[in-house]
Amino acid sequence: MPHQVIEQGDGLKVSVLGAAGGIGQSLSLLLKTQLQFLLRGADCDSKRLSLALFDVNKEAIDGVATDLSHIDTPVEVSAHSPQSGDSAGIGSCLENADVVIIPAGMPRKPGMTRDDLFNINAKIVAQLTDSIAEHCDLRKVFVLVISNPVNALVPVMHHRLRTKHQGRVRGTGIERRVFGVTKLDIVRASTFLREVVNKDSTNTMPFVPVIGGHSGETIIPLFSQNELSEQLTKEQRDFLVNRVQYGGDEVVKAKNGKGSATLSMAHAAFKCAQDFINVILGNTKEINTINFGSLLDFEGRPIAHGAEKLLNAVDNCSFFAVPMTVTREGVQSVDYTIVSRMDAAEKNEMLPLCVSKLKKNVANGETFAVQLV
Ligand code: NAD
Ligand code: LMR
Repeated sequence: MPHQVIEQGDGLKVSVLGAAGGIGQSLSLLLKTQLQFLLRGADCDSKRLSLALFDVNKEAIDGVATDLSHIDTPVEVSAHSPQSGDSAGIGSCLENADVVIIPAGMPRKPGMTRDDLFNINAKIVAQLTDSIAEHCDLRKVFVLVISNPVNALVPVMHHRLRTKHQGRVRGTGIERRVFGVTKLDIVRASTFLREVVNKDSTNTMPFVPVIGGHSGETIIPLFSQNELSEQLTKEQRDFLVNRVQYGGDEVVKAKNGKGSATLSMAHAAFKCAQDFINVILGNTKEINTINFGSLLDFEGRPIAHGAEKLLNAVDNCSFFAVPMTVTREGVQSVDYTIVSRMDAAEKNEMLPLCVSKLKKNVANGETFAVQLV
């Protein structure tokens, strides 16, 4: 396992790519209003906080950044677009970023699957990958991909970094810090379970791990892992599984042509980013989170402790969302025991279906990345 000591910088910089969109704006608002609350002790006064917002839509991003900049928090906001010239282009947005969050790309309309977004969004993510490789410090940055289809776009980014940018990525361990954001599925599982079982008795939100991928049957909500599920009938449990797997469609349908989940996604992305920021700021040495990432490093070896056993359990599917321990250097271990803790239906019915679909999504991403010059 490559080991390197990453120096604590004197600030925290979060870059959002696609920041003028539905998710981008709401997420940027959360970051602008909340980042300073993540500082502890002496850092409260000494650390510089910055939020760099990039979008291809210059007018929109200039407006969003100006608007946010009036909010009375100590987080500095900057606007970046391709039309702004080098001093405010993507390079200055990404330079020295600690976390890069990517909600750039097309959202679904009713009747579309996430895979229908692949051709257009894969080109966007490939282009942004090149910018990240060129401008970020690959020894420290965390990259969080929100754009859909997550199942194929994270493999696109991984493959492009490994092949087109091999000189830059060598020895940086960046592959241990590139993740797809599947947190919204966890947020939904928690919300929907509480609605069915104990809405009136407590304000505590139940936690349900969700593993696999981020679309339809690749999403495996593990209701067996929450004791509240014991109160559920089989029909209620099947209903909840389906609702989590197709929660995205519920929002797409309700928005009726005006896009997909933005507010709940911004909330989920902020929660996810917050974990990584806590580790970057040194508030904690490690975090336990669930993210979609590669189980193999750029040399084709298991990426972290437990990855080899997980690969065996998931028919060598090389990307998977799984509970993992992450430090400042990136993923350290993946919890392969989650598979042995599944109940019979989760293990024998849902997992094989997930794996066969997810492997196809990953292969699509990798084939595209190979063909793209
Ligand atoms: P949106 O259309 O409102 O915003 C997308 C933004 O990306 C726009 O401002 C657009 O100008 C910008 N953009 C396009 N190409 C770009 C590029 N090359 N560089 C920088 N910016 C670029 O869409 P949205 O509702 O915010 O959704 C964004 C993406 O997130 C979609 O692909 C959607 O499917 C996905 N999504 C993922 C999850 C998840 O759980 N991972 C949840 C919801 C939505
Ligand atoms: C979601 O789950 O809401 C997102 O992936 C957006 C979508 O297209 O459903």
